[in-house]
Amino acid sequence: MNKLIIANLKMNLNKKEIVEYKKTIEESNIKEFIICPPNIYIGIMQSNSYSVCAQNGYHINSGAFTGEVSFAQLKSIGVNYSLIGHSERRNMFNENDEIIALKLKSCIENDIMPILCVGENKEERELGKTLEVIEREIKNDLKGTKFNDIIIAYEPVWAIGTGLIPTKEDINEVHLHIKKVLKDIYNKDVKVLYGGSVKLSNIKEICNIISVDGVLIGGASNDPNNLISMYNELNVL
Ligand code: PGA
Repeated sequence: MNKLIIANLKMNLNKKEIVEYKKTIEESNIKEFIICPPNIYIGIMQSNSYSVCAQNGYHINSGAFTGEVSFAQLKSIGVNYSLIGHSERRNMFNENDEIIALKLKSCIENDIMPILCVGENKEERELGKTLEVIEREIKNDLKGTKFNDIIIAYEPVWAIGTGLIPTKEDINEVHLHIKKVLKDIYNKDVKVLYGGSVKLSNIKEICNIISVDGVLIGGASNDPNNLISMYNELNVL
């Protein structure tokens, strides 16, 4: 199945575990996937077998911004992808659409492919505002930015780390809407990934939805053997 798999390790694993993770993946048959390690492990994690993605970056190339890492610096070590606007950034680190728009612009200017994460929270879903919220996030985040290509990850906030997932029909509806917005307004055909409680038991069903171009996996990717099993579920036989 030709679907993109992105593994988001978030702030998990220590150095020894990261080294073992890489070894396990390199010794397996899996390739053509993308992994997002914590920034400090990017150098260790880089490999010819797969691509590495940043989880975040700062929108100014250099300067007195203690504790930050810029997209320009990430690019200088060979990073070609970055998550932007993950809901944990939006909700825990107060990244609003204005900040995300700046990050998106800087990411693109530094020739890094952004994976823009959008998604409604539980209340918005219950009020029937899902499509409205997602469309607003996309338009606000892309405001003033010229881009050739972008990947969108649809991640309902209420599905992240909870074991809950939307119905197949709901996932399809949102993905088709995202594709329509990108086509109508920006004349782009983009890949749309689903993220939120993807695991071994549901990855195939989710990826069988035609409008799903791949998955962004959090918790279930912390164990490399589980990631390999999920990859094989889609790609073997
Ligand atoms: P989860 O996280 O798979 O643990 O729900 C997904 C994400 O946050 O990208």
